[in-house]
This record gives sequence, C-alpha cells and structure tokens, in this order.
Amino acid sequence: MSLALQQAQKSLGNTKQNPAVGCVIVRKDHIITSGFTQKGGRPHAESNAINLCKSNLNNSELYVTLEPCSHYGKTSPCTNKIIKKKIKKVFFSIKDPDPRSFNKSTKQFKKSKIKVKIGILDSEVKKFYRSYYKFKQELLPYVSGKIAISKDLYTYNSKNKWITNELSRGRAHLLRSYHDCVLTSYNTVKKDNPELTCRILGLESKSPTRIILDKHLNLSTSSNIVKSSYKYKTIIFFINSNKKKINILKKHKIKLIKAKTNVDGNFDLENVLIKIKSLGFARVLVESGVNLITGFLKRNLFDIFHIFISSNKIGKNGSLSFKKNMQLFFKNKKSTYSKVNLLGDKLHSYELK
Ligand SMILES: NC(=O)c1ccc[n+]([C@@H]2O[C@H](COP(=O)([O-])OP(=O)(O)OC[C@H]3O[C@@H](n4cnc5c(N)ncnc54)[C@H](OP(=O)(O)O)[C@@H]3O)[C@@H](O)[C@H]2O)c1
Repeated sequence: MSLALQQAQKSLGNTKQNPAVGCVIVRKDHIITSGFTQKGGRPHAESNAINLCKSNLNNSELYVTLEPCSHYGKTSPCTNKIIKKKIKKVFFSIKDPDPRSFNKSTKQFKKSKIKVKIGILDSEVKKFYRSYYKFKQELLPYVSGKIAISKDLYTYNSKNKWITNELSRGRAHLLRSYHDCVLTSYNTVKKDNPELTCRILGLESKSPTRIILDKHLNLSTSSNIVKSSYKYKTIIFFINSNKKKINILKKHKIKLIKAKTNVDGNFDLENVLIKIKSLGFARVLVESGVNLITGFLKRNLFDIFHIFISSNKIGKNGSLSFKKNMQLFFKNKKSTYSKVNLLGDKLHSYELK
C-alpha cells in the first residue's frame, strides 16, 4: 500500500476533480504491474496498471489507495475490470467519498468470490486525500499559500529579484506541480513578470493553470504570462474593462471571468474560489505578494501555508514585511507544523485547518 501511495503521489494536482490514485498488483510476493491516475483523471490507476501488464493477472492481489469505482461514468467501472481479470484479492485503504462508489465495491467483489480487505495505511492515505475530500464535501477547494521571506521578514528586495536560494526556488516549482492551478495578482505579474510554470526537468507537463486577479485587465500583452498563454492555460478574473482589451486577451486564448467585488471594492476571494472550484480545480496554490496573501489569511482561506525563509537579511533594501502576519496568524493558531532544511534556507509548512 505504501508503494501504491507513492504511485498516487505522482499524479497529485494533475487529476482536477478526480482523485489521484495509485495501484500495485502483486503475485507470489512479486510486483507484476503498477499504475496511477493519468492527467485529467483518466484512465484510472487500476485500469492503467491492468493495461500495462503483459502477463496474466489470474490469482494476483491488487493494492489500491482508494476504493475502486463501481459506476459507469466516462469509463466503465474498475470493479468490472478487476473481476474480469480474475484477480483474487483486493486491498484498498479507504472508501471513496463519491456517493456513486461509496461502499459499493465490496459487495460486487464478494459476489465474484474476490476477497477484500480495507484500512491498510488509512490515516496516511486519508491525509493524502484531504483535497479530494474537501472537493467532494465542501464549498471551497483546497487552498495552499506560499511566500518567500528574508531572515528579517521582508518579501521584497529592491536590489535582487530573488529572496531565497536556488534549492528553495526549485522546491517552489515542485509545489506548483502538486496543484492544478496557481493564483496571483496583477501587481505581482506587473512587478515580477513570472511565468508561474513548473520548470523542473521532466515535470514541465505538470505546470498548473495560471489564474490572475486583474481588476481592470491591465495585464500587458508583452508579459511572460500572455506570451506563454498558447502553451499554458491562463484565466483572468476581472471586474471591469473595455471590449477592445477583452478581445485582445481572448485572442491569446486567455479565459476571462467577470468577478464579484466585496464591500471594499476588492475581489470577493471566497467567490473567486467557488468559481475556481466550479471549473473543476481541486487544488489551488496562491503565490502572490504580502497584500493578497494577507487577504487570504484574514479570511482563513488557507488549508496549508508554506513559508520559505532565507538565511540572509535584506536590511535597508527590504520592504513589504511579513512581520504582522507572523504575529497575527501563527502565534496562537492551532496548526500542525513541519520544517525542511534547504541548504541554509528553511521551509516551514503550517496546516491551518
Ligand atoms: N516574496 C514573495 O514570496 C513574493 C511573491 C510574489 C510577489 N512578491 C513581491 O510582492 C510585490 C507585490 O506585492 P503587492 O502586495 O503589491 O501585491 P500582491 O499582494 O501580489 O497583490 C495585492 C493586490 O491584490 C489585489 N487584490 C484583489 N483582491 C484582494 C483582496 N481581497 N485582498 C487583498 N488584495 C486583493 C489588490 O489589487 P488592487 O490594487 O487592484 O485592488 C492588491 O493591490 C512585488 O514587488 C513582488 O516582487 C513577493
């Protein structure tokens, strides 16, 4: 099951509203095939493992992180495929919260004399499926926040584009690969001109959809975001603009969504997230400057928050301090916490809910 979970991790953030599932099939203590959910959610892990196997699956044992689906959707049920292949035992870690499959597979397997065992590694697997549970059961999607700060807590350095080291920045790209969309502000795009893609060799295809909050559609057509919008999906939430700019951006294959404002005239962040979820995105990474991050923190919208802390101070070249947030939000907040060393820099991650 641990190996199946490793398979599932390969597709986390790349299956949209579908769960990222891992599957390993074993015969006489030898692994004969494995699979994971493919990009966009199909084929499913079990189907993928079965299809990849060149040998006969009679009397084998199948380990899968989530209960196999038993309903007809865009594909036929995995339970049927498992039964047809005469697999002898099925081990799944947790039941699928999707009502179309919840608790239905065991009956079908037992009818076909397939033994079933549930619950191996269930607490670890449940944790892994936090975003999937949230997608199925709540109004908002799973939201991660990320910020990079200097040792003296600044988020901006007037003399250097980068605050943290290369290893931290690589890790931030890895974070992008685990999310199906990344959200930022027009301010950050204007000042940093980012691409917001995952540029780790071999993981480029796991780049998230880019989502920009841009009140008046001021985004420049010479920005890296617009220049790469044919290759990487891009969505802009806006409040008002003129037809001409709307048409120009649409020609660049950018999806435009008119959004609601809150009483301050700013984007209503809850509403933006609800809309993002309705588009099928389950895991959102917010990567912006301190002001938009504060907007999310104040509304308690993050499920997890990652702070990359540099080992260097910026001093007089630093601005846009994160200090108030540190004091306000993390001091007495109930959260589980983990820390990773990154060649001097540190990554602190807080699970906030
Ligand atoms: N250290 C890091 O990790 C990091 C990451 C990204 C950027 N940065 C730096 O941060 C700087 C930009 O920071 P920033 O504070 O100006 O920009 P920001 O935090 O990225 O975005 C702030 C803007 O977001 C918009 N916004 C929309 N709805 C909001 C809401 N409900 N609450 C709060 N803001 C909302 C506002 O735009 P309107 O003004 O149009 O209302 C606001 O001005 C850049 O210099 C960049 O280099 C640092």
